[in-house]
Amino acid sequence: MFWTAAPLLVFICLLVFTGTTYGHEHGPGVVRVVEGNDAILPCSLSTKEDIVQKLFDWKKDGQKEVFLYDAGSHYNNGRPGQDEQFKGRVSHFQEQLKYGNASIIIRDTKIEDRGNYTCAFPRLKPEEKIFNIELIVGAAPRPHLKILNASEDGVVLQCEVLRASPKPKVEWQSSDGSILPAEEPHVSERGGRYDVTLRTTVTKTTTNRFRCVATQENIGHVTDDDIYVPFSESTCGDSAHNWIPGILVGLIIGVVLTLGVEGLHLVLCGVPKFITRYIKKGAGPQMNGSYNRHSVTLNEC
Ligand SMILES: *[C@@H]1O[C@H](CO)[C@@H](O)[C@H](O)[C@H]1NC(C)=O
Ligand SMILES: *[C@@H]1O[C@H](CO)[C@@H](O)[C@H](O)[C@H]1NC(C)=O
Ligand SMILES: *[C@@H]1O[C@H](CO)[C@@H](O)[C@H](O)[C@H]1NC(C)=O
Repeated sequence: MFWTAAPLLVFICLLVFTGTTYGHEHGPGVVRVVEGNDAILPCSLSTKEDIVQKLFDWKKDGQKEVFLYDAGSHYNNGRPGQDEQFKGRVSHFQEQLKYGNASIIIRDTKIEDRGNYTCAFPRLKPEEKIFNIELIVGAAPRPHLKILNASEDGVVLQCEVLRASPKPKVEWQSSDGSILPAEEPHVSERGGRYDVTLRTTVTKTTTNRFRCVATQENIGHVTDDDIYVPFSESTCGDSAHNWIPGILVGLIIGVVLTLGVEGLHLVLCGVPKFITRYIKKGAGPQMNGSYNRHSVTLNEC
């Protein structure tokens, strides 16, 4: 038993051991950042040996020159060769070099900075060391909310997240945080950025407040905004308008009864102007909402 199990145990130990050293020295790290922010790409020798007089070289996707340091000479003090994309945006940490720390900072990150970076010590003894770091840059715009439509069935709300990257998950929530049923999101993609539109139909709640949440798990980012729907006001207009036709009909009947057909003709010539004005003002079920950041007013009330 023992003699058959022993080689297996040794093999497992070897796997675990090499696995940990691999992960520590060469394993890929991941840095996530939102576009426009700064990113620190870590790279440190576990020996913590002084690298002030050494050479290290940062490259992106195996080719673009990001940052090179060679015993005090580097891209920020006149050394040529840096890729245009990184000019003026990358620095090392001078005071960290004596601890074997070759980390760099990329300022004002852009979507095109995303990719796989290597930090190499090509002249290190006894052998060259290479570290891999993946940089994920996301764009996390705020959702735009608006009221599309109001009818007896409810109010149609639209949430739009434009030019987001990576693709966000978009949800409508009630004010207590529960997820509201919504239509299938409409998603379009251009140049790695996504436009997502999500509509839901809501009815009165205790707060009449609704929230749209955009989540980008990949960059650990959540943005949201909320909207107030003034339900009570949307019915006040209707009830006020509804009895006006009744009054008009009553008035016409009254005129016919007291003045005869001649009087009716006189009145009817004056009334159409009034009627067209009344219809234009919008007594129909359709209403336009105007949106200003946190509250919405239905125009007709
Ligand atoms: C290396 O330096 C950077 C910048 O000061 C710092 O954020 C990082 O923690 C340092 N790494 C180590 C292993 O000390
Ligand atoms: C970076 O490398 C990982 C794993 O090796 C790969 O899945 C990913 O697509 C690469 N990213 C880019 C932008 O090339
Ligand atoms: C708005 O409401 C009207 C009538 O209720 C309906 O016909 C129309 O399809 C709605 N529009 C949207 C965008 O939901």
